This record gives sequence, structure tokens and C-alpha cells, in this order.
Amino acid sequence: MREGLKQFQMKTPQDKDHAKEAVGKAAAALIQNGMLVGLGTGSTAHYFIQHLIERTRNSDLKINAVATSERSTHQAREGGIPLVDINTITHLDITVDGADEIDHQKRMIKGGGGALLREKIIASISHEMVVIIDEEKLVDRLGHFPLPIEIVPFAHQLTLSRIKNLGYQGNFRKTSSNELYLTDNGNYIIDIHFPNCCQSPEKDQDTLSSIPGVVETGFFFHLAGRVLIGKADGTVLLLP
Ligand code: 5RP
Repeated sequence: MREGLKQFQMKTPQDKDHAKEAVGKAAAALIQNGMLVGLGTGSTAHYFIQHLIERTRNSDLKINAVATSERSTHQAREGGIPLVDINTITHLDITVDGADEIDHQKRMIKGGGGALLREKIIASISHEMVVIIDEEKLVDRLGHFPLPIEIVPFAHQLTLSRIKNLGYQGNFRKTSSNELYLTDNGNYIIDIHFPNCCQSPEKDQDTLSSIPGVVETGFFFHLAGRVLIGKADGTVLLLP
């Protein structure tokens, strides 16, 4: 169990799913008519998109959206949400996305679903990024969850060696058929493990992002706005 979260321990995968659906639904209720919305990626964001689709079908709500992955693009398109070309806009009103971990300073690790690069681009042009998590994702210290790093395929073994030579433990993300995992951008992911959590996320961000070949890290700083926390009993809290 994560440090300091005894009161939040979840029992079953169903509990987790209830929490994710509750928080996804609560976030969908925040979307207002005319907004340009960033759609996150992952199982929690999936519930948000599902409930947003329901709202657009059952009310007069009219929105446009940009998605952070091919998966979310597909879900939105199938659900009839109008999608705009990212190259035709300069900002979004709101983005709703999940996270793998978030601490009390609202620093996050994202990219468990492999969409970190698009997620960061879209979060960075959003007036507000609303983060939706189940209660197990709130941590005292980042780094229980491996940190994903997106790297270009060129010289990928060299890039991994350089990361390891700096003292990090990591390896390439693989698919279930043992192929190198490819992001929507045609890049690879290295997942970095912190044996004793991450002691200084900002320093690690500077070190890792300065390695040639690294496109982006899964650290998200100064991006989270409201953080909604879903609980297994279906209630949703706002992180103070
Ligand atoms: C995808 C992400 C997701 O937001 C993160 O992995 C959380 O996913 P889930 O809601 O399935 O737990 O960063 O790249």
C-alpha cells in the first residue's frame, strides 16, 4: 500500500472501477456549452468521455474536443463528439485527464497508458487541467509508479544506456507479444523504477529531459488544476 493512505485502501477491482466511473461522471458534469475540451486517455478518462457523450446526446450541450490519443479519438468519434484539428487551435478551455500518481503539491506521474506526450501538449494549452483519479493515486511521494519516458527509436539502446549510466533503473515497455511498445507518435517508452520513490522530481526531470533522444517525461508539474478524487462508494472529493 502507498505511504499514508491506509484510510483509502481499496478492496477489489470493482471498487476501483466504481471510483473511476464516479469521478469520470462528476468531471463530465463540469463541461459547459461551447467549450473546447481536451479529452484524456486511460480507464478513468474513458468514463469521463463516455459520460460526456451521454450528456451531448441527452441535452443541448454543444462542445468541440481534441483527444490525447488515438484510443480517445476513436471513442469520441464513435460517440459523435466533434473533434477539431490540434493545428487549428491555440488553447483549450478545459482538459480532463487521469493520472498514475499525484502528490499534495499536485505534481504528477502520467503515461501509464502511453499517451504522455500528447497529454502534456494538450494540458499545456488548456486554461484548466482537471485531474480525475481514484483514491489510490494520491500519494505522499511520487515514484511508487514507474516513470514513463518517451524516446525516439533512433539510438534507443544508447539512450537507455545513458539513462542507466546516470543511475536510473529502467527498461523498455513491451507489448504482450514482447515487442517494443510504440506510442501513437511512433516512439518507444522506457519505464523508470525508483527503488526508494522519487526524492527530487524536479532534478530528475531536468536530468532526464536533457538527454538527447528523450522526447518527454511523464512528470507533470504546474499543470493540474482541480483534482477530483473518486471513492469506491461513489462519492467524489475535491483535493484541497
Ligand atoms: C495515460 C495516462 C493516464 O491518465 C494514466 O495512466 C491513468 O490511467 P487510468 O485512468 O487507466 O488509471 O497518463 O497516458
